[in-house]
Amino acid sequence: MGTKYIQFCCNRKLLTVRKMSIDIGGMRIRYKDREETFLEKHLVSKEPFGQFKAWFEEACSRKEILEPNAMCLATATKDGQPSARFVLCKGYGKDGFKFFTNYGSRKAKELEENPNVAATFYWEILNRSVRIEGHIEKLSEEESIKYFHSRPVPSQIAACTSYQSTPIESRNVLCEREKVLEAEYMIPEKQIPKPAFWGGYLIRPRAVEFWQGQRDRLHDRIKFRKPKVGEVPDEKLLHQGEDGWVFERLSP
Ligand SMILES: Cc1cc2nc3c(=O)[nH]c(=O)nc-3n(C[C@H](O)[C@H](O)[C@H](O)COP(=O)(O)O)c2cc1C
Repeated sequence: MGTKYIQFCCNRKLLTVRKMSIDIGGMRIRYKDREETFLEKHLVSKEPFGQFKAWFEEACSRKEILEPNAMCLATATKDGQPSARFVLCKGYGKDGFKFFTNYGSRKAKELEENPNVAATFYWEILNRSVRIEGHIEKLSEEESIKYFHSRPVPSQIAACTSYQSTPIESRNVLCEREKVLEAEYMIPEKQIPKPAFWGGYLIRPRAVEFWQGQRDRLHDRIKFRKPKVGEVPDEKLLHQGEDGWVFERLSP
């Protein structure tokens, strides 16, 4: 087979470089060593939110992780057609995980007909992932307004210009809308009203799994979930947690 080359223009010069073939099958990184396993005794909390806080704060302390709050959110239509995208988690606590978006977007339309969601965080440098399953609730208008006005003004304007997920003729259309809004609102003391089509959601989890990748591929998985009706922890496979949660170790 002859060597393949590709040509491209850089600073008005035509460059020729050898085409690299990437071996995806051979791609793998080294996860954590045996002495760094994630065992039940390492849980800092017997309910998922305290455990999430510990892992999330560790992720935030690592400068290599630029957006520790980025999570992949999966939604589905009422007949189960899934879709996934990243959003930024903007709060978490005993109630669940919050994010903000456009209420006219594809995800929002799917959430209207099917409130079930899944979300995952992945912090590569820590070899850790958190996996959430639950249902969605809209945040109150007051909370959405408060968060909207905490954002930088250009972000507020951008939220007003975008009818998210709808087809648009060109980028210029957005820039024109932005200009009009900037002229109207980039004035000191003038507040941009939050559009009715923008706001937040809360994911109320029924399961939260903590995954840690191990070098020997015997990865650690500890899953918190709400118990099924009548289910009693046997303290062998299923353990009693706190605040109505149980937890179990899953095979990798
Ligand atoms: C790292 C990252 C963070 C994002 N955060 C948000 C967000 O918080 N809210 C949002 O509406 N879109 C966010 N987006 C854009 C979404 O991924 C997506 O393009 C948009 O929400 C439209 O999705 P939909 O058509 O499925 O509704 C983010 C994208 C990336 C890559």
